[in-house]
Amino acid sequence: MGPPGAGKGTQAAYICGKFGIPQVSTGEMLRAAVAARTPVGLRARRVMDAGELVADDIIVDLVKERIRQPDCRNGFLFDGFPRTLPQAQAVVDARITIDHVVEIRVSDAGVVERISGRRVHETSGRIYHVTFNPPTVEGLDDETGEQLVQRDDDREETVRERLRVYHTETHPLVSFYERLSDTTNLRFSAVDGSGSVEQISEAISAVLNAR
Ligand code: AP5
Ligand code: MG
Repeated sequence: MGPPGAGKGTQAAYICGKFGIPQVSTGEMLRAAVAARTPVGLRARRVMDAGELVADDIIVDLVKERIRQPDCRNGFLFDGFPRTLPQAQAVVDARITIDHVVEIRVSDAGVVERISGRRVHETSGRIYHVTFNPPTVEGLDDETGEQLVQRDDDREETVRERLRVYHTETHPLVSFYERLSDTTNLRFSAVDGSGSVEQISEAISAVLNAR
């Protein structure tokens, strides 16, 4: 977990590669639904463009269906889920075991800097930054050579709203998981997200390897 632009998707790619598990990113799933104009996508589009959260029941159903797929049998990484207390409670109620929650801490100013330079490859979800993580050829995806784009919700006023929503709706999950880590096998770790992509990757590896 972490605010918008903290580097959740960037780090998820490393962790999933290392452990051979799929990345279950609710943001990516919703963007795919929007692109495919499914009923969920049609409902989610306006909410996402405004920087608000999609309804808990839609999200919980999406996630439950996703983790029933065979590739999730040996585990999975949640990216951007759960992000409200009702979603976190739904995970507990469904007896879905979370081994480790990692919070990536980045200041609001850091978030704005990262998001303003973000470019993505729409079909794969690969993430770049014009300065901090540039593609080999400017503006083009490393693997397919296709054009990179800016996300629709990366406009400055939407980013400010996403940050506000993070602080009010999602950040309370930190104490929720800290409490759960006192009474169950779940582990909670916070890492400083202000360093380079590699430094944060190492910090996350260290807390995961310490299990
Ligand atoms: P989602 O797609 O999850 O967006 P988000 O939480 O706002 O997070 P981002 O994807 O913007 O950032 P990130 O932390 O993944 O950072 P990234 O690695 O890209 O959700 C989008 C929307 O969908 C939500 O607003 C909501 O409407 C809806 N939604 C999704 N899940 C939901 C849920 N569970 N419930 C309800 N609604 C939901 O990195 C950012 C940039 O920084 C990149 O350019 C990257 O290259 C760069 N970067 C990364 N690390 C570093 C570093 N260490 N140093 C410098 N630059 C870096
Ligand atoms: Mg992301």
